[in-house]
Amino acid sequence: GGKSSNAKLVLLGDAGTGKSSIVLRFVKNQFIDFQESTIGAAFFSQTLTVDDASVKFDIWDTAGQERYHSLAPMYYRGAAAAIVAYDITNQASFDRAKKWVQELQAHGSSGTVVALAGNKADLIDSRKVSAEEARRYAQDNGLLFMETSAKLATNVSEMFSQIAKRLIEA
Ligand code: GTP
Ligand code: MG
Repeated sequence: GGKSSNAKLVLLGDAGTGKSSIVLRFVKNQFIDFQESTIGAAFFSQTLTVDDASVKFDIWDTAGQERYHSLAPMYYRGAAAAIVAYDITNQASFDRAKKWVQELQAHGSSGTVVALAGNKADLIDSRKVSAEEARRYAQDNGLLFMETSAKLATNVSEMFSQIAKRLIEA
């Protein structure tokens, strides 16, 4: 049989970018139009098999509202992986995502695999952040990058698979 491992994964990013929706899509393959804003953080776990190895993700879905910022280190400390989400229709959320990446680089664990997720990719007519700009930023900072849509299930499982692959290779 293949290897199996546990990986702590944290989602970070502005309120309303779709962190909880990404997790709900990944864990239950569901989407809620009126997803409630997270209070504190929520925990989920989901196992993913890539090739013949399995990774059990212990997922911390953090609250993006600023008043919860001081809790974040509890969740990203020791994390094997982090997903930093922004909303492609919201430039401020992309700026905030960069701040999260800086905070992870300064205070996170050195080996954390970081993925940048440009979510709400279905809202193409309201786009404010170009995929090219985000891809370049991700490349310059050694991040995985995907545009995702929790609503349409675009690139959500793919993103977790890529993270799992990176973790298995490590
Ligand atoms: P906090 O918990 O406050 O930090 O927010 P969050 O990042 O968890 O965002 P949440 O998942 O609650 O989503 C916010 C809103 O965006 C909800 O109304 C979702 O239905 C909507 N939403 C999330 N993902 C998508 C998406 O991919 N496309 C579209 N069109 N809407 C989305
Ligand atoms: Mg949430």
